[in-house]
Amino acid sequence: MAVRPIARMGAEILKRRADEVTDFNDPELPILVSDMVETMIAAHGVGLAAPQISVPKRVVIFFVPGGRNNGMDIPLTVLINPVITPLRPEKNDDWEACLSVPGLTGKVPRLTAIQYTWQDLQGNRFERMAENFHARVVQHECDHLDGLLYPMRITDLTTLSFVDTLKAEANERGEELQLDEEGEAA
Ligand code: NI
Repeated sequence: MAVRPIARMGAEILKRRADEVTDFNDPELPILVSDMVETMIAAHGVGLAAPQISVPKRVVIFFVPGGRNNGMDIPLTVLINPVITPLRPEKNDDWEACLSVPGLTGKVPRLTAIQYTWQDLQGNRFERMAENFHARVVQHECDHLDGLLYPMRITDLTTLSFVDTLKAEANERGEELQLDEEGEAA
C-alpha cells in the first residue's frame, strides 16, 4: 500500500485512452486499487482514476457523501471497465475540480441522469442509475479513462478560475463561497 504521485494536466498519461482490464487474476490489480484508495484519501478527493497515478487501465474509484446526494451515501465503489449510458439528454452546469488540475475550478456541463455498468475486482458485472452529483462524479472519472480533463468540457471558459481568487472575492463581498474544492476534487 502506498500513496502514489498524482499526474498533472499536460502529462501524456492523462491524454491517452486507458486499456480495458482483461486479466482479473493479475496480482497487481488489487494493489493498484488499494494504492488508488490511499492516494485519493491523502489528497482529500472524492474520486480518482488509474491514469491519474500513471497507470493506463480502465479503473476508477469514487464515493459520494450523503450531503451531496439527498442524504444517501454512495459508499466507496471500484469501477473496472465502466460504461456510461445517458438516461436523459439534459445536462446541467456545476463546479468541478480535479486532483490533476490543482487550484482551479470551473463550471462543467454534464448529463443529469445516467446508467452505468462496471466490473468489480473479481470480474462480476453490475449496473446502477445515477443522478446529479453522483452522475457528475462518475462522468468526470470515466472521462479520465478517455484522455479528457474537465477543462476540455467547459463551454463557458469565463468560469475557469483559481479557487483562491473566487474565495478572496467572495470574502470581499462578505459572502461565503459555496465551493469546497477539497471535498469535491476528483
Ligand atoms: Ni479529475
